Amino acid sequence: MNTAPVELQQLIRVAQEARARAVAPYSNFQVGAALETVDGQIYSGCNIENASYGLTMCAERVAIFKAVSEGKREFKRLVIVADTQKNVTPPCGACRQIIWEFCGDIELILANGRGLVKALRMKELLPHAFDAEFLADEACGK
Ligand code: THU
Repeated sequence: MNTAPVELQQLIRVAQEARARAVAPYSNFQVGAALETVDGQIYSGCNIENASYGLTMCAERVAIFKAVSEGKREFKRLVIVADTQKNVTPPCGACRQIIWEFCGDIELILANGRGLVKALRMKELLPHAFDAEFLADEACGK
C-alpha cells in the first residue's frame, strides 16, 4: 500500500496519461480522471465511447468504478482533465450524482493540461443532492 503523500502535479499527470487512452472516436472529446484514495493510491479513468452513444462511459465513472471494484471506499481528491481552452471542464450531471454517492463532498481539481487549474468541492457543483438519506426518510413505505 502506498502511503506517501501524493502531489497534485502527479495526480494531474496521471489524469493526463489516462486521457491519452480515451476511446472517443465519435465526439473526439478526450477526458482523463485520477482519483486519490485516503491511503494514497491513485485510480485513473478515461472516457470510453460506443457506437450506441448512450452506452458511453465518462472518465470519472471509470475511475470511481475501478477503485470501488478494488475495495476502495474512501477518497480524497478527484482530478479531471480535458483539453478545453477557455475554461476547465466540469463533470457532467450523471457523474456528479455518482461522485456524490461514492465520494461525498470531495475536493475536485479541474485542469486543462495547459496550466489552467480550478479547485472546487462537490457541494458547490451538486447542491441539494439526492442520496440514500431520502430513501431512508420515505414515509409511505413504512
Ligand atoms: N465526458 C466525460 O468523460 N466526462 C464528463 O464529465 C463530461 C463528458 C465524455 C463523455 C463523452 O465521451 C465525451 O466526453 C463528450 O461528451
